[in-house]
Amino acid sequence: IKRVRTRHFQNAKDQGITITGLTSYDQLTAQIFDEAGIDFLLVGDSAGNNVLGFDTTLPVTVDELIPLARAVAGAVKRAFVIADMPFGSYENGPEDALHTAVRFMKETGAHAVKLEGGERSRKQIKRIVDAGIPVMAHIGFTPQSEHGLGGHIIQGRGAGAEQLLADAHAVEDAGAFAVVLEMVPAAAAARVTAELRIPTIGVGAGPEVDGQLLVWTDWAGLTTGRIPSFVKRYADLRGVLSEAAQRYRDDVTAGRYPTQEHSYEE
Ligand code: KIV
Ligand code: NA
Repeated sequence: IKRVRTRHFQNAKDQGITITGLTSYDQLTAQIFDEAGIDFLLVGDSAGNNVLGFDTTLPVTVDELIPLARAVAGAVKRAFVIADMPFGSYENGPEDALHTAVRFMKETGAHAVKLEGGERSRKQIKRIVDAGIPVMAHIGFTPQSEHGLGGHIIQGRGAGAEQLLADAHAVEDAGAFAVVLEMVPAAAAARVTAELRIPTIGVGAGPEVDGQLLVWTDWAGLTTGRIPSFVKRYADLRGVLSEAAQRYRDDVTAGRYPTQEHSYEE
C-alpha cells in the first residue's frame, strides 16, 4: 500500500478527486478508518471534549495529545496523520510554534501538524514549513478562539467573506499544504476553493470544497447533546454500546454469563 503524502492532496485537487478525513484519537479507530480507505486522520484537540472529559478544546495540552497522536500514527499503513497543535502552543510566535511542531514530529510519528488562524498565524506556518514539516491550516470558525469570536458562530458571512478569503490566501502564501474551512457558508467555501491552488477541506462548509472532515464520534453517533447540523450520522454507536452494556449487566446479574464455555478447564 502506498502511503498518502502531501502531494496526494494536491494531486486530488488537480484531478477533481475529493479527499476524505476523520478525526481519530486511538489505535483501533485509526486501524478501522485506515483500512476503510480514509485518506487522512486528524488527531484533533477535539480529543478535549471527546476523550479527555473537558467541555471545550481550550484546556488540552501538547503532553495530552502526544500519546494519542502516537497511537494513531503507529496504527496506520496508508492514511496521512495530522497532529493538532493545542491552544497556547503556537500563538506566542514562530519559535514556540516550531518547538511544538517538532515535538509532535519527533515524539509521535505524525506526518504533519495543524494549527488555527489565517493572517494571524502566517509567520508560524512559514516557520514550521521552512523546517520541513507540512502544515494544514484551519480558518473560518476556529474553536480555540470560541470566546473571542463570541460563541459557535458561522464565519465568512457578508463582509466576513473577504476576511475568509484574505485568511485563505495568507495560509497558502505561508506554505500550508491544505486548509480546513470550518462552519462557513457553502458559497464562501466554493469561492475560496476556486481561488486557492491548495486543497480546501470542509467541516460544515458545503459540497464545493476539495475534501471533507468530520469528528468521528459525532459521525458515528457516539456523542450526545449539541451536534452541529452539518454532521451526518453514519452509525448509532451509542445505541449499540448502550444496549450491549445493559445485556451484559443483565446476563451477569442473572447468572447467564460466564458459563462453562467462557471458563477455563482444570
Ligand atoms: O480538533 C478537531 O477535530 C478539528 C476539526 C473539527 C477541524 O480541529
Ligand atoms: Na482542532
